[in-house]
This record gives sequence, structure tokens and C-alpha cells, in this order.
Amino acid sequence: MKIINVVGARPNFMKIAPIMRATRAYPEITPVLVHTGQHYDGNMSNAFFKDLEIPEPDIHLEVGSGTHAVQTARVMERFERVLLEEKPDLVLVVGDVNSTLACALVAGKLHIKVAHIEAGLRSFDRSMPEEINRVLTDQISDLLFTTCEEAKINLCNEGISEEKIHFVGNIMIDTLFYNLNKVNLYTANRKPNTEHEEYAVLTLHRPSNVDNKETFEKISKALNKISGYLPIVFPIHPRTKKQIKQFGFEKYYNGNIKLLEPLGYLEFLKLYSNAKFVLTDSGGIQEETSVLDIPCLTIRENTERPITIKQGTNVLVGTDGEEIVEEAQRILRGVYKRKKDLKFWDGKAADRIMRVLTDNGRA
Ligand code: UD1
Repeated sequence: MKIINVVGARPNFMKIAPIMRATRAYPEITPVLVHTGQHYDGNMSNAFFKDLEIPEPDIHLEVGSGTHAVQTARVMERFERVLLEEKPDLVLVVGDVNSTLACALVAGKLHIKVAHIEAGLRSFDRSMPEEINRVLTDQISDLLFTTCEEAKINLCNEGISEEKIHFVGNIMIDTLFYNLNKVNLYTANRKPNTEHEEYAVLTLHRPSNVDNKETFEKISKALNKISGYLPIVFPIHPRTKKQIKQFGFEKYYNGNIKLLEPLGYLEFLKLYSNAKFVLTDSGGIQEETSVLDIPCLTIRENTERPITIKQGTNVLVGTDGEEIVEEAQRILRGVYKRKKDLKFWDGKAADRIMRVLTDNGRA
């Protein structure tokens, strides 16, 4: 069985690494790794291949940045040529980035089976490009691998038949557990990118937060205020860096907020796993902090991962500013949530997925 595994952007790499590793135990599978090139900077892409021991991509589409339509169209054109040449039995896509939808769509039209890892997550906010990518990818997938029970309800509500859905757990947590020891062993003597004993970590890159001047200013003021109580370490996404410059917001990101270039997987894990709390608008970080029992304040109005609020350490603090500061103060007073049971977030999701894939292939 020939399987094309697709990666494109930073959050894809930690989801494909366990699949590439698990595939080695199945000689009947020939994996082909395709990188669309949606992310291309060394610290947004190559660093993750190295840290996560992902083999070099077999095929690189080199699409680069562009508007949503341009980027999606470029991936589709180039990926169609790959499928016609390679004739795989299955295309496996992960997450919710533009490359995910683009590749699923091309495969679906060529009648090639599509498997989607991390299916069924919904923010119910169609202004997020990722929500459109999620809904459409799930509609054209033949196998839907979910991380939580709610995902199945979301999928069934959209008319997807139950037999396509497999609750396998959270594959990103496979990567987290696999690398946790490595981080502790190899970087034990190295400070986690900051000289501070106590600090918070910040990530921020959603267009809805950083592309709108008014919203971004409210968030920036709140962060600046929090940094007066506790230093904040901020590995900064290229989009956000550009926007700070464009809006002249450098004044908010001063001494107590330490700006870093984007970090690789291991450096970032070292950094946030030692943090007092994390401020973020990322999806995956809500899950990772929940598993590690680190308080997480999510700077968004909604989340496609409500399980991290119910069972994890996540609190939605909106984008107005006030609540961000209040919740940070609560954590500093020692008031925060602790994690509960997160079923199948146990490091074994890739094995479950491989069992389903091989059973389906034989059927
Ligand atoms: C993309 C994903 C988002 C994910 C995020 C993680 C979509 C719709 N969005 O958003 O879900 O959370 O990745 O990072 O797929 N840039 C660089 N170097 C790079 C990549 C991008 O400088 O290697 C800059 C470019 O100016 C680009 C901008 O960042 O225009 C945004 O990149 P893009 O891939 O369009 O979206 P992200 O904001 O990264």
C-alpha cells in the first residue's frame, strides 16, 4: 500500500512524525512524504524535521506564501501532478492548514482515498480560515481520525457516516511524550532561552489577533501590563513581527517582554514546560499545556478544542485585554485549573491509526 503523507506548515510536522516512525513496523506500506512548502523558513520548517527526526521529504512542492487562493491553488496544481505520477492508494493529511484542504481536494477528485488526522474539531467560527479547511477536508475524507469524543458528534451532525470515524487519540501527544525525555536529558544544563527563574511564555499569530490594529493594540497593552508582574518570553511568528512593525507597536514589546526568533520543537518544549503559565492563540499549545498541567490562557473568543477547557488547564480569555490580565493575576495568586483525564492522549495514537489503515488496506 502506497501512502502519501502530506506536510505543509509548522503545526503539521509534529503530527506526521509519529506516523513516519510507526510506518517502519509495516513493511507492506510504502510511505512517500510530500512537503508543500507552505512554510519554508529554516526555523519554521527544517528545524522541526531535525528535532522530530522526520526523514527528508521525497517531494517538495515549494509553493511558498501567498493569499489563501493563490497558496491553495498552487498546492493543488503541483500536488495533482504528484498524484498522477505516484498513483498512491491513500493520501494522509493532518490538521487544518491550507495545504491540508488543498491536498485532500485534489485526491478526492482523482478518486484516491483520503485519511484526515485530527478530524472533527470545530470552533464554529467561519471567519477562521482553519475552520473552513476543517469542515471541507472532513467532508471529502474517507477515514476520519479523531482526538476526542466531541469530534465524532460534530462530524455526525454534518452528515458524515459513523463507520468512517475512528477515535484514536491525539497524535501530537505522541510527539510530546517521545520528546519529553530527550529535552530533559540533553538540555538539562541549558537555561530555557531566558535568564529568569519564573516567566510566562507567549505565542501569538492568528490573523484575527494581529492583523486588526485595534484588537492587536488591546492585546498588546494587556501583555505589556502582565509583563510588569512577570517577565514574558515571546518567540515571535513572522506574521506578528511584520504587524508589530507596521502598526508601530514596538513600544509594547519592551524590556520585560523578551522577543526571540521562532524556536525549534525541542527548544520551545524546554521553554514552555518550565513556564509559570502560557499565553497563546495557537491550537496545539492548548493541548500540550493541558497534558503537561501548565496553566494556559488562550487569547481567542472561541476554541475548536473545548476538551482542553473541560478536561485540561485551558481558559479562554478573549481579546479585550481585561480578562487576559485578570486571569494572569489569578494564576499568580495560585488560582488555576488542573488537568483531568484526557482519554487516549497517551502517546499511542499513531499505533491505533496504523492498525486502522492496515485493516482498511486489507479489506
Ligand atoms: C499558518 C496556518 C495556521 C497555523 C500557522 C502556524 C493556514 C490558513 N494557516 O498560518 O493555521 O496556525 O500556519 O504557524 O494554513 N512566513 C514567513 N516564513 C515562513 C512562513 C510564513 O516569513 O516560513 C510569513 C509570510 O510573510 C506569510 C506569513 O508569514 O505571508 C503567513 O504565513 P501563512 O502560511 O500564510 O500563514 P500563517 O499565519 O503562518
